[in-house]
Amino acid sequence: MAKITLGKVQELLDSENKKFEEMRPESKKLYESTRAHFVGGVPMSWMRIWAGGFPIFVRSVSGTRITDVDGNEYVDFCLGDTGALTGHGQPDIVAALSKQMKNGFTHMLPTEDCVWVGEELERRFGLPFWQVLMTASDANRMALKIAREVTGRRKILAFNFCYHGSVDETLCVDLMGNMMHVPGLPGPIVDDPSQTTRMVEFNDVPALEKALESKDIACVITEPVMTNVGIIYPDPGFLDTLRKLTRDTGTLLLIDETHCICGGPAGMTGEWGLEPDILVLGKPIAGGYPAAVMGFTNDIAEKLEKRVPWHLFFGIGGTLSGNAAAVAGMKAALSYVLTRENFDRMIPLAERMEKGIASLIADFDLAWYVARIGCRVEFRFMPRPPRNGLETLADVPYNETDIFNDGLTGPMEALIHVYCANRGVMLTPVHEMAIVGPTTTEEDINLYINVLRQLIKELTAE
Ligand SMILES: Cc1ncc(COP(=O)(O)O)c(C=O)c1O
Repeated sequence: MAKITLGKVQELLDSENKKFEEMRPESKKLYESTRAHFVGGVPMSWMRIWAGGFPIFVRSVSGTRITDVDGNEYVDFCLGDTGALTGHGQPDIVAALSKQMKNGFTHMLPTEDCVWVGEELERRFGLPFWQVLMTASDANRMALKIAREVTGRRKILAFNFCYHGSVDETLCVDLMGNMMHVPGLPGPIVDDPSQTTRMVEFNDVPALEKALESKDIACVITEPVMTNVGIIYPDPGFLDTLRKLTRDTGTLLLIDETHCICGGPAGMTGEWGLEPDILVLGKPIAGGYPAAVMGFTNDIAEKLEKRVPWHLFFGIGGTLSGNAAAVAGMKAALSYVLTRENFDRMIPLAERMEKGIASLIADFDLAWYVARIGCRVEFRFMPRPPRNGLETLADVPYNETDIFNDGLTGPMEALIHVYCANRGVMLTPVHEMAIVGPTTTEEDINLYINVLRQLIKELTAE
């Protein structure tokens, strides 16, 4: 096994951080100015989680490339953590948005585009009724409310270490039977998250059976493949069992396709023929213009209609939700970019990336694994894929060091990100995750693999 020591990682990280700063005087200057008015120097805290000491400020984009204010160019494999899966400034989406915007961004009235978009969403995902929200977090919050309303049950079930956006009910973890909010959650609605949520491990059928048997869970919210603590595939048959158990216990099944849309034009729901009661998809659905959809069954629609006429519901969405530009952006993204044809081009490139990383792992005998969902590829510092969220915390013995600690953070991760950025490769700020977009090329993939190889070579040199 290749020997990578903490000392070596830290030494290289120090020199790469220095280089990062030297290459980006303008970004640094801008960051120092923005700190006066934005908490953490950024308009949204997420933008502060990148390695390197300060965020890179963007000047311009072209397809899947970004140029920063210092003139550095990057092959963008982060793609806004899926929000820009369609590429930046995609011409058809820009044209559709521009056309609509000249006719008004938002009117609190529908436009003709709604006809095509509604039909297309049903064709792709098999659900007849839809609402348009601003973000996937919004859509998940709304979906949980609707599930509670329809079932008359208060609690929801989520899988341990899941992430579904800023949705309090899912921002908790179960550590050895102790439910707690995730660290950093401000102002939780309830002190004890077990009042709102039951958590079980992904792929744990007995725990799922037990958690649902009391028939007090309104809905199970899940991604088809977990994506937020690395890529964790369901065991064969797990999703079928989940569907059966939810049906048997009158529990709704909410599938969140926000990241798994990387798997194909209808996400993994389409690839695997899943049958959710509720489906949520945000991020790239309008090419990164803020929009998300929530779809649901006829049965839910009928039950809701009996309770309150749809237009009299309060506490869901907002006046900007479903605005005309968002619907126009969705029509363009679905028509021109999130197509089978594009996925058929992107997925083989992602396979090439996966193979390249697998060869690197084998060549250096690293105790890492690489996984892929469609055009999304991720490697982690563990010898084999975990089966659930808790396993991602497993302390993996790696030489005599603990440089990889929980596998998601730590100096090795920071080094990979800064080292790649200094050589024109942008990864997602957390995880070793890369997305292949519609204009990504073979050369882009080769660049990424070569940069990684060079890094491992430097780290393992005697
Ligand atoms: C699976 C999943 N659902 C929902 C969300 C929330 O998306 P947004 O932050 O755009 O609201 C995320 C964000 O990463 C996600 O990973």
